[in-house]
Amino acid sequence: MPRTRRGAAGAVLGLVVLVAAAALSAGAPARAAVACPWMSRTLSPGKRTAMLLAAMTTAQKLALVVGVDPHAALGVADGPLYVGYVPGNADLCIPALTFNDGPAGVADLQVGTTAFPAPIAQAATWDTSLQRRFGAALGLEAWEKGIDVLLAPDVNIARVPENGRNFEGFGEDPFLSGQTAAAEIAGIQQNPVIATVKHYAVNSQETNRYYVSSNVDDRTLHEIYLPPFEAAVKQAHVGAVMCAYGLVNASFSCQDQPLLTTVLRGQFGFPGFVVSDWGATWSTVASADAGLDIEMPGGLFYGGALADAVASGAVSSPTIDAMASRILTTMFRIGVFDEPPPALASVSATDVSSPADQALALRVAEEGTVLLKDDRRALPLDLHAGETVAVIGAPAGFGDIRAYAGGRGSAFVAAATPVPPLQAIAARAAKVGASVVFADGSDPVAAAALAHSADVAVVFAYDHEQEGRDRPDLQLPDAQDELVSAVAEANPSTVVVLDTGGPVLMPWLGQVPAVVEAWYSGQRDGDAIAAVLFGDVNPSGKLPQTFPATNDAVPTSSPAQWPGDRQAQDAEFTEGIHVGYRWYDTEKVAPLFPFGYGLSYTRFAYSHLRIARMRSNVSVSFTVANSGARPGSEIAQLYVDDPRVAGEPPKQLAGYDRVFLRPHRSTRVTITLTPRSLSYWDSPKARWRVAHGLYRILVGSSSRDIRLRGFLRR
Ligand code: NOJ
Repeated sequence: MPRTRRGAAGAVLGLVVLVAAAALSAGAPARAAVACPWMSRTLSPGKRTAMLLAAMTTAQKLALVVGVDPHAALGVADGPLYVGYVPGNADLCIPALTFNDGPAGVADLQVGTTAFPAPIAQAATWDTSLQRRFGAALGLEAWEKGIDVLLAPDVNIARVPENGRNFEGFGEDPFLSGQTAAAEIAGIQQNPVIATVKHYAVNSQETNRYYVSSNVDDRTLHEIYLPPFEAAVKQAHVGAVMCAYGLVNASFSCQDQPLLTTVLRGQFGFPGFVVSDWGATWSTVASADAGLDIEMPGGLFYGGALADAVASGAVSSPTIDAMASRILTTMFRIGVFDEPPPALASVSATDVSSPADQALALRVAEEGTVLLKDDRRALPLDLHAGETVAVIGAPAGFGDIRAYAGGRGSAFVAAATPVPPLQAIAARAAKVGASVVFADGSDPVAAAALAHSADVAVVFAYDHEQEGRDRPDLQLPDAQDELVSAVAEANPSTVVVLDTGGPVLMPWLGQVPAVVEAWYSGQRDGDAIAAVLFGDVNPSGKLPQTFPATNDAVPTSSPAQWPGDRQAQDAEFTEGIHVGYRWYDTEKVAPLFPFGYGLSYTRFAYSHLRIARMRSNVSVSFTVANSGARPGSEIAQLYVDDPRVAGEPPKQLAGYDRVFLRPHRSTRVTITLTPRSLSYWDSPKARWRVAHGLYRILVGSSSRDIRLRGFLRR
C-alpha cells in the first residue's frame, strides 16, 4: 500500500493527534460539530458544499476565488513560503488553500524535500506503477510541508525542441503524456492534496510566453494538445486545472470560454476548479464568465474588481456560486477540510525527504535513463583492479552539482543531499580496485590529456533548460562539443553522459562508442548513472521525444512556427497534427534517435501477434522474450496506422507495456485498443470518429523499430 496520508489515516494514533493539532492551528474545526454542520464526514461532498454555500455571504465567497500575499496574510517577513495562498475562514471552518510547485518534487520551500528526476525522465520510464508511487510520495511530502494544492503535473506537449520547459513535461506524445500524468495525479491525490494539471492549453514555448498566441486548428488541439488534460480529468479525476500564460487563437487561455467551459467542463466533464497561472488573468467579467475560478497570485482582476462587478450585476451571483462551489466541492472531495496539512510555521524546518522517497528518486532515475548508443560493448564498463576512469565535465561533481540535477524555474528543487556522479562512480570503481581521476572540462586540452592517461573516459555534458527562456538552438552550450571531441580523440573508450532536459545535437556521435541520456535526474543522479554505467542496472528507459539530427530537421523549423511571427506574437502551428515523430514519419526525415528508442544490455525478441475483437474494443497480444544474457526490462510499444481517409500520420502510439524478463524467459503482453484509439477528431461535427477501412497494427521496440505487423478492418 502506498505510504500516503489518506491511506494511513485513522490507523495511526500519532497521525490523528497531528491532524487535530494542525486543524486547531488553522483555527477552525474545534467548533466544527456545532457551528459547521458541513464538517460531518458522513455527508457527500456535494451536500457539504451546498450546506456551506448557503451559510456564506457574497464577500466570503469572493474571498475564496483570489489569492493573497502569504507573507502579509501570515505576518512572515520572508523565508520559505507558499507560492500561492487563499486564506481560510475559521468561523466557517474553511481551511486555507496553500499552493506550491511542482513537477519534480516540492519546490520553493527550500529545505527538506526530495529532488526527484525531472518529468521528462519520469516519462522515459514508461512505468505507470512507478509514476503512481512517485505521485503518492510527492503528495505526501507536499502535505507534510503544509501544502494542499500541488502545482503538478505539467502536460504541455513538447512541440518545439528548444522549449525551455521541455524538461518539465512528458515529451511529444499525447497518449504517453496523458497516461504518465494520470498515474502521477492518482498518486498525489491518494493524499488529501489536490493535484493541478497545467498549463491549459498548448503553452509550448517560453519565448514571449505571456503574450504569444498559439494559432492552432481545432483538430490539432483535440488530437495533440488536449488529450493529456482529458486523461487527467477522466482517468485520474484531477482536482484542479491551471490555465496557461499566452493566448490560443488570439484569446487568452484564462478567459477562453470554449476552452474552459465547452471543452473542459462540457466535453471532459471536469467538476474541479480552474486556477490561473501566476499573472495569467487579464479580465474580470470575461474570466469569471468563461470559467476561471481562482486568480493567482493576487487580485488584480478578481478581488475588489470582481466585487464591483458582482455589485453592478456585470457578473451574476450564480456565477460566483458556481466558482465557490467548484472550489469547495474539490476541497471536500479530496480531503482538505477533513485533513488539512500542518501549518507552515510548524514544518518549514522539517525534513520530509524520507529514505523511501530518496530510494524512489533513485529508481525513477535508473528506469528513466536511456542508453542511446553502445557499440563494441563499451558499456557496461568492465574495469579491473588498477585501472583508471577519467571522469570529465562540470555535472560530474564540480561546483554546484544541484545545477545539473534539475531544470531551473518554478520546478527547481534544491536537494539537501545530492550524490554527485564523481563520488558515486569513484565508490563503484573502488569495489573492483579501480580508481577515478577528474577534470572539470573547462580546459579541453587538460581534459584530453587526462583521458589519454586513463583506461576509460566518461564525459558529462549539460544544457541549460529553464522556465522563461527557450534554448537558442539544440547545440550543447559552452563549447562542450569541442570538449567531447577532444576527449574522444584522446581515448577511443569514451562514454558520453548527457545531463540535458531534452534533445541536443551530437556532432561527435561517430567518435564515441557509447552515449547515455541521464536527463536532469534529481538528487540520486550520481548513484543512478554509476549503476547504469557499471551494469548493476540494465538500462530500460525509452525516449519520450525525438532527438533531431540537425537544428533544421525539426517540425517547427520556420520562424513563423517558432518563435512566431511579429516578434513572437503569433506562433503558427502550421505543422498541425504532425508533431514530434508524427512529422518525422510523414516527411520521411531521419531523426538522430527516434521516439520510443532506447537500448538495453540484453536483447528482446517479439513474436506471435494476435489481434482479436472484443465487442467494440480490440485486444492485441504478442510475446516478448529476453533472448540475451542479462535480466532486463523492455517497453513494448503499440502504434496504429489509420486508413488513409482518416488523414492521420503513419503511426500513433496507442498502447505500451513495460515487462521485466530474466534471460530466456518470455511473456505474453496484451494491450486493449478502444474505439478512441482508432479515432480521429471530426472537427465540423465536434466528435471523435472511427474511419472505415484497414488499420495497421504495429508493435515494436521503438517508433522506428517495428517488429510485428497486423491488420484490422473497421
Ligand atoms: C509560473 C509557472 O508557469 C507555473 O508552472 C507555476 O506553477 C507558477 N509560476 C507558480 O510558481
